Amino acid sequence: MITKCLFPVAGYGTRFLPATKSMPKEMLPVVNKPLVQYGVEEALEAGLKDIGFVTGRGKRAIADHFDVSYELEHQIAGSDKEKYLESIREVMSKGSFSFTRQRDMRGLGDAILNGYRLIGDEAFGVVLSDDLCVAEEGVLSQMVKLYKQFRCSIVAVQEVPEDQISKFGVIGGEQIKDGIYQVNEMVEKPNPEDAPSNLAIIGRYILTPDIFEILRDTPPGKNNEVQLTDALMTQAQNGCVLAYKFKGRRFDCGSVEGFVTATNYVYENLYNP
Ligand code: G1P
Repeated sequence: MITKCLFPVAGYGTRFLPATKSMPKEMLPVVNKPLVQYGVEEALEAGLKDIGFVTGRGKRAIADHFDVSYELEHQIAGSDKEKYLESIREVMSKGSFSFTRQRDMRGLGDAILNGYRLIGDEAFGVVLSDDLCVAEEGVLSQMVKLYKQFRCSIVAVQEVPEDQISKFGVIGGEQIKDGIYQVNEMVEKPNPEDAPSNLAIIGRYILTPDIFEILRDTPPGKNNEVQLTDALMTQAQNGCVLAYKFKGRRFDCGSVEGFVTATNYVYENLYNP
C-alpha cells in the first residue's frame, strides 16, 4: 500500500515575479483554489493521505493553508459563507501534513532526497504542483493501480512537440503494453536531436525507496543540479522503471501561458460557485 506523497515546493517561481516575491508560486490561485491544493486533492483521491512538503524560505503560507484558521472559522461559522471553506475542510480532514526544508536549491533530486525524513523506506508518490492534471480518474490514481501490478518506479509521460522537448526529462523505452513502456533511456532536458523519443516526463511519479540510496550517489547533472531523471536512469539500469502515458490533460502552470490556459479551462469546466 502506498500512503505517502511528496510535494517539492521550494522553487522560487521566478517566471511569476513580482507576484511570487513574497508569496509561494504554489499558492497562486487557479480560479479560486491555490495550485498546490489541486495536487493535494489528486493525491488524496489516489489514497495517498500522508502529504509531505519539501519547502524552503518564504513558503509558510503553504503550511498555513493546510492548517486551521481559527479566526476565519470563528468569523464565518453559521453564515452562508461557510460553503467557501468546504473543499479545504475536506482536504484537511482526509490528509495529514508534514513539512521539511530544503536549505539549498540543488535540484529536484536533492529536494526528493530531503524528503527521506518524511517518507522513510516506503514507495511513495511525487507531485510537482506546477503541472496541473485534469482527468476523469486522477493521474496518480491511475499510476497507483499500475504500481500495484508492477511494483516498480513509474513516471508519467506525454508526447510533446519537438520544439518543447528540451524543457523536459525525456524517456526512451520499449512498449510492453498499450501506453506502458519499460524505460531504458532517460535524459534531462535534451536538445531535440539527442532526445530518445518525444515522450516527456510530467510531474507525477511513483518511486520505490531505493531511489534515496541512488540519489545519495548521483552527482549533479544538467544545470549543475542533482537530477531525479539521472537517478531514475540508474534505477532503470539496476531493475525496472516504467513510463506511463496517462489518460487526461496536463497544464504547465509553471509558465504564464499554461497558467492562463489552465485558469480558463477550470473556470469553464470545473468551477462550481
Ligand atoms: C522537472 C523534471 C523534468 C520533468 C518536469 C516536468 O523539471 O526535472 O524531468 O520533465 O519537471 O514538469 P522542471 O520543470 O522542474 O525544470
